[in-house]
Amino acid sequence: MPSVYIKTYGCQMNERDSEAVAAQLVAKGYSLAPSETVADVILLNTCSVRDLAEQKALRKMENLAAEIRRDRPEVVLGFMGCMAQSRGQELIDRLPDVDLVLGTQKFHRAADCLDEIIAGRRDKIVDVAEEPGSEATIREHLLNGNAQKSVTAYVSIMQGCNQYCTFCIVPYTRGEERSRTIPDIVSECRQLVAQGVKEITLLGQIVTSYGRRRFGRAEPPLGQDAQQRVPAQGKSPFVQLLDAVHEIEGLERIRFTAPHPKGYGDDLIEAYALLPKLVESAHLPVQSGSNRVLKLMHRGYTREQYLVLIEKLRRARPEIGISTDIIVGFPGETEDDFEQTLSLAREVEFDQAYIFKYSQRRDTPAADLPEQVPQKIREERNQRLLEVINEIAAVKYKKFVGRRTQILVEGPSRKNPARMTGRTRCNKIVVFDFAEREHRGRLMDVKITRASSFTLYGDPVIPD
Ligand code: 5AD
Repeated sequence: MPSVYIKTYGCQMNERDSEAVAAQLVAKGYSLAPSETVADVILLNTCSVRDLAEQKALRKMENLAAEIRRDRPEVVLGFMGCMAQSRGQELIDRLPDVDLVLGTQKFHRAADCLDEIIAGRRDKIVDVAEEPGSEATIREHLLNGNAQKSVTAYVSIMQGCNQYCTFCIVPYTRGEERSRTIPDIVSECRQLVAQGVKEITLLGQIVTSYGRRRFGRAEPPLGQDAQQRVPAQGKSPFVQLLDAVHEIEGLERIRFTAPHPKGYGDDLIEAYALLPKLVESAHLPVQSGSNRVLKLMHRGYTREQYLVLIEKLRRARPEIGISTDIIVGFPGETEDDFEQTLSLAREVEFDQAYIFKYSQRRDTPAADLPEQVPQKIREERNQRLLEVINEIAAVKYKKFVGRRTQILVEGPSRKNPARMTGRTRCNKIVVFDFAEREHRGRLMDVKITRASSFTLYGDPVIPD
């Protein structure tokens, strides 16, 4: 059977999709190639969120066509995911070496498409059609295929997005929002825990919208009793899902990403008090500190509402780690707007922030706004914001030195395999020396001895 190599660009959702495709192919008898140079099939799982990500994948495919295909003409080359979805046939017109273009609702069809191509029944396949029910098709995991069992796993709870932020291409690449049922998600989580997973991250474009569109429809919502169409005790479907996942015995930690500030209700804040497995960590994309820009972005909240939310979260869990996404140089962003973003960053004191220079995306409303910010200014603002974010994070990370904190041991450090890494509940990476391999998957206490940018170093605390 052929071997496959999958390279992934972009977000955790893409990582998860690639893992599911790999699992599907392994189940069909494919092997996983250690590198692209020896693979029979090379798939690029692409990202469209910024132009840079698209250019990287296009250049990569050009190189694969020129270098690998030249020597081994039988190698199958494919694009999957967001750029495949948004560009479709255009990708083959531009790069005729590409054999397969598979959209975001078709990952479960990867093996069948490859079979057709490899058997010579079809020359090229472009499949980017909508597929009802595709949200429930991303459920295979590769845990048993890994030499080392995974301690953490992603579980996809929904697909698509209906928010239509004016800068964002995702509603067009990922389609309408569709949620899986609670029993379906819980059974996948149970299986993972039975295989040794200790921490689950629930994934969706906007997890706080989970299940909302299914309520009030004729079908039994979320696979539960029809009476439960009204959220149980005023709880949103997402919090009901958290309650259900929390019940799973053997599961130690629950994370989720990403919530939307506007959907972050009091029931979700209360969940922190009620569900001890829910870790003290929230990734809350703010995008801008200026109300004028937030409105132009179609975000649905104000700076003040965002700040109130942060305050509530910190009241519920003072230790909570808060990260965010921020866009600089959105069309029309003035120096004054940008300074409000700087002041918001100072006020919130984020533990971590991902800063993005605004990138014009095709078919999005903001791409046509007249006042595009010059590239030079986008870069300059990126730099200035980065300095503020780094400065604040350095102070925050230093505060951990001398403290004792619980980590989940994930495995050897990527940079230095002689060391081990784990994560605190508030999502900080801790690197430490001691620990037998069998400590993987264990919760242990460490004493933090040193902090560098976005990493803590520590020593395990040995119980007396
Ligand atoms: N330009 C720059 N950044 C963007 N993001 C989404 N669309 C764009 C764009 N057109 C960022 C947002 C989002 C993150 C995943 O990517 O900050 O939260």
